[in-house]
Amino acid sequence: MRYYYAEHQAAYQRLVQQGLTQWSDLFGETDEYDVFPNRPFLERTLSELDLPPEPDVLEYGCGTGPAACFLAARGFRVDAIDLIPEAITLARRFAQQRGVEVNFSVQDVCTMGARSKQYAVVLDSYCLQSIVTDPDRTSLLTAVHDRLKDTGYYVLSTAIYDPDRIYECTFRYDTTTGICYQAADPADDAVQLDGTWYLPHRRHLHPAALRAELEAAGFHVISQEGGDVICAKRHGT
Ligand SMILES: C[S@@+](CC[C@H](N)C(=O)[O-])C[C@H]1O[C@@H](n2cnc3c(N)ncnc32)[C@H](O)[C@@H]1O
Repeated sequence: MRYYYAEHQAAYQRLVQQGLTQWSDLFGETDEYDVFPNRPFLERTLSELDLPPEPDVLEYGCGTGPAACFLAARGFRVDAIDLIPEAITLARRFAQQRGVEVNFSVQDVCTMGARSKQYAVVLDSYCLQSIVTDPDRTSLLTAVHDRLKDTGYYVLSTAIYDPDRIYECTFRYDTTTGICYQAADPADDAVQLDGTWYLPHRRHLHPAALRAELEAAGFHVISQEGGDVICAKRHGT
């Protein structure tokens, strides 16, 4: 099992048991489905983008779908994927309750394979920080680049390095790579550091390192406010 699976599956199982509606409810950050963490950023951003009527959007890591439903209600044609079946089951239910159409499916963004379609917008609402290793991030960013139209936008909200963030004692933050590891039993993807086994847990990059990573992956960063980023495809890549 990949390092990013068990944590997310357990979280959505907890979410179902507790009758919550979205990921950030688990951390007491939200308590209403339609008020999701990157909504203010999307509201500011979308009106500034040069988009066709009824733009196609792909959201990966959509969770229970609050952003996907928000976009569908605003005339976007939305494909939305998440790794965890429990999240997608809830997402379909919430979309139906709101009378919006979203094409939800269970998929791993790191193994999406050959491109089937290109989008005016690819959206990430806090998934990228969970994709930790260089090869996985390269696969993800390549998949996004392939799926973006030449005139499209990659709209990203991700957690970044925060000097005030406290890593509990079972976590280990590597300041060089921005990788946060979590102590774990030896398993697929586990690494041994100073005699202790860890799984990759998060990637908390400094904003400049995130920008450099996106540019190396063939994107032009149009704007960046911390972890809220709008990119276009850099032409000629
Ligand atoms: C922090 S949660 C955010 C969920 C949702 N976007 C929201 O704002 O409520 C990160 C999401 O990314 C999903 N995820 C993690 N790794 C993934 C992968 N490899 N492929 C697809 N989704 C993934 C998780 O299941 C989880 O739903």
